[in-house]
Amino acid sequence: MDKLVIEGGFPLKGEVEISGAKNAALPILAATLLTDERCVIKNAPSLRDVSTMLKILRSLGVKVQMQNSRIVVTPSGYNKCVAPYKLVSTMRASICVLGSLVAKKGYAEVSIPGGCVIGPRPIDLHLKGIKSLGANIQIKAGYIIAQGKKLKGCHIYLGGPFGSSVLATANVMMAATLSKGVTIIENAACEPEIVDLIDFLTKMGAKIKGRNSHILEIEGVKRLGGAEHTLIPDRIEVGTYILASAITRGQVSIKGARLEHLGVLIDKLKEMGLTIANDDGIISVKITKPLKPINVTTLAYPGFPTDMQAQMMALMSVTEGISAVTEKIYPERFMHVSELGRMGAEIMLEGPTAIIKGVRQLSGASVMASDLRASAALVLAGLVAKGRTDISRVYHLDRGYEKIEEKLSRLGAKIWREKE
Ligand code: EPZ
Repeated sequence: MDKLVIEGGFPLKGEVEISGAKNAALPILAATLLTDERCVIKNAPSLRDVSTMLKILRSLGVKVQMQNSRIVVTPSGYNKCVAPYKLVSTMRASICVLGSLVAKKGYAEVSIPGGCVIGPRPIDLHLKGIKSLGANIQIKAGYIIAQGKKLKGCHIYLGGPFGSSVLATANVMMAATLSKGVTIIENAACEPEIVDLIDFLTKMGAKIKGRNSHILEIEGVKRLGGAEHTLIPDRIEVGTYILASAITRGQVSIKGARLEHLGVLIDKLKEMGLTIANDDGIISVKITKPLKPINVTTLAYPGFPTDMQAQMMALMSVTEGISAVTEKIYPERFMHVSELGRMGAEIMLEGPTAIIKGVRQLSGASVMASDLRASAALVLAGLVAKGRTDISRVYHLDRGYEKIEEKLSRLGAKIWREKE
């Protein structure tokens, strides 16, 4: 197993190029199961999660080729409908093949995703939506068995205790594209990754209204064709590099980003005192005055993204004054707090809220990654900490960040990978 080693204290300088969005790639690859025709996905990131999704497609009998950041998917006549436990248990997002399979093949057997360290992640909304379209759903031996030859459009309210669900919206929308009649999804998620999926499905011939809104209207069609699509940039990767520049008091420009996807995150960073400019798609970040403490609350898009919460906490831990983070999407998503504490951060948890008292200096230590975004927070802390930081279990990081140590090294960070 690998670990990452970081010598902290070097301000980041230079330009970094952003990869395609992991959370757009996964549902879009699942959507290729809705057609028999060839699809080409461009700007695809080389990540562990993407290769897991390709393995699932192959296990269903789909031909898949990935070269550089281009994926060619040839689903013609795939003949299996089982997404096995051994793959699904490594990546929860595998659940989003359920909607495509039952809509295209009338049958799907998808392992129920296991537990997750960021907190309870039920799938009731996925099942409610697919059932509403007329599929018969059974749970057997840890698998969801969905059967439904003639899915029919209807009105679905897809809201849970924490608001809309990104992948439930994706799953139900994909199934509705081949269902008879019109489906209305109320309280749909409208993350940029959902909009990217809508754009891909529309290129395949789907009829979807309500792009960028919480109400989607899908008119079912008999069949969908192949399509070529370039994925949007990864807004969470953009956010992570903006914070890497800020925490090291550096000056970084970020290429290939879409600032409009970052909405409230940019507002909050400006409130802290960061200067963020956008020059023709190149975002530049610099600090001209001491940063101020702030409060953030995570919400569904366009609210503050929960996938930036841990990285934000790392920056707050070295920002003088008292900051607060309230986690409204995954109230237990605080695995990074104790590890940041090992580096000298002062963070107190009160239920879903973390109170952060900024310290002058963090110190390098051996810490353990627990999930994707928590590991990104530990990398940021290691970049600013005094001395050496060793981050173990970095396989979490490889799930969602393409070539992170190469990109950071090019910006002047002292970071390398070692065998544990
Ligand atoms: C997506 O997960 C992202 N994953 C997650 O990013 C992200 O944290 C999350 O959206 C929220 O933004 C991908 O896109 C692959 P949800 P998803 O369903 O769709 C509750 C990362 O780091 N809920 O929107 O699984 C749920 O428990 C990952 O890249 C139900 O109650 O998340 C949560 O509290 C981590 N019932 C809330 O909704 C359901 O059936 C939002 O979850 C489904 C969800």
